[in-house]
Amino acid sequence: MDNQPKPQYSLTISSERSSIRNAVNLVEKVADKMKLVNEESDNLAISVSEAVANAIIHGNKFDKNKKIKISIFIKNNRVTVKVKDQGSGFNPKELNNPIDPENISKEFGRGIFILRNLMDTVDFNFTKSGTEVIFSKNYNKNSFKK
Ligand SMILES: Nc1ncnc2c1ncn2[C@@H]1O[C@H](COP(=O)(O)OP(=O)(O)O)[C@@H](O)[C@H]1O
Ligand SMILES: [Mg+2]
Repeated sequence: MDNQPKPQYSLTISSERSSIRNAVNLVEKVADKMKLVNEESDNLAISVSEAVANAIIHGNKFDKNKKIKISIFIKNNRVTVKVKDQGSGFNPKELNNPIDPENISKEFGRGIFILRNLMDTVDFNFTKSGTEVIFSKNYNKNSFKK
């Protein structure tokens, strides 16, 4: 039996760069429905685009036979997003700090850093079927349009 709660929104995309736009479109629609202010909507959109890019590039390695599933859960003022790929994962402890002097001029290695800074929680779930990045943010009254 599958006891997982059902997401309010979900989308399955293929492992190509152009799919990022589809994921961002969905998130913008959700943010709009929630009446999130533009700054919060943009922060959520950039977080999703980084997570989805990682799923496409590092997770599924552009494999046409592999998919990515995006699930969005809304509960009270909290949004939780899950991005699941079909790749073999990585070790989050080995991530480089992009603001260390030797990394500061590199334009890669910033996605997870951005995600962690924009969201309240960022977690990784590594399973045999793939990697899932789960992030969430709890919004307050200033996050919503009047
Ligand atoms: N879904 C994923 N599957 C496998 N490896 C990943 C995934 N997401 C992130 N990574 C690993 O974490 C590293 C850092 O990701 P990120 O901060 O987005 O930087 P970048 O994508 O520019 O390398 C990646 O280079 C990759 O090694
Ligand atoms: Mg990245």
